[in-house]
Amino acid sequence: MNHYVELSNVSFSYPRSKRIIKNITLKLNRSQFTALVGPNGSGKTTLGKLAMGILKPSSGKVFICGKNSTEMTLGEIGKKIGYLFQNPQRQLFALTVAEDIAFSLEWNEHDKAETRRKVTNMLELFQLEHLRNSSPFNLSHGEKERLALAGIFVNHLDYFILDEPTMALDMERKQILSDILEKISSYGIGMLIISHDQDFVNQHADRIIKMSEGEIVYDSTNNLRP
Ligand SMILES: Nc1ncnc2c1ncn2[C@@H]1O[C@H](COP(=O)(O)OP(=O)(O)OP(=O)(O)O)[C@@H](O)[C@H]1O
Ligand SMILES: [Mg+2]
Repeated sequence: MNHYVELSNVSFSYPRSKRIIKNITLKLNRSQFTALVGPNGSGKTTLGKLAMGILKPSSGKVFICGKNSTEMTLGEIGKKIGYLFQNPQRQLFALTVAEDIAFSLEWNEHDKAETRRKVTNMLELFQLEHLRNSSPFNLSHGEKERLALAGIFVNHLDYFILDEPTMALDMERKQILSDILEKISSYGIGMLIISHDQDFVNQHADRIIKMSEGEIVYDSTNNLRP
């Protein structure tokens, strides 16, 4: 199956809000790096949450791996798509950084050595080794962001939606993230990245989608222009 996520005539309003997403039809391909861009308030985060099934459409349908998102539990969807929230205000409950990543593992590994191996891989990948035993509460904003990413990538899923992943990262960390994403892409894993970072988008994206006021006004795949 080529389309990992499919939106069909999707509209969405928050309770008592005007229509935020206006009749969007969109197919997100597996194995493609898609960037979602557009001005503040244009509906990017809302669209990302609809694609992930965190929000359900007011009208229209969202299919994740061919299944209607309204018929899937978040646990089920979580095995298909990894999601990074914009400004991750995650519930930090683990005592240490290493434990926090271990808790993020989707399935409870009975094999303790395997869990340790995966956690160590992520600590190395995101340059958090020196913070392994620190409390997540004491991390800097950028370190928290990298911890959130580690908690997502530790689950080897086929698709990721990342909402502004470069926001809190300095140049050096952004380069590290760039390298990681390139590597992940080369494994054939698909991604939807919501970003204001033009350079980052141009560097990575196979496809660029632009939103404005709840509509798609440009899609490089269809060469659709306003
Ligand atoms: N929970 C909510 N209830 C009501 N309105 C909301 C809610 N969340 C977002 N909105 C409104 O929906 C619109 C789209 O918001 P959204 O967060 O999707 O935009 P965005 O493109 O991600 O913006 P940004 O670039 O600033 O992150 C905005 O007008 C926002 O005020
Ligand atoms: Mg947003």
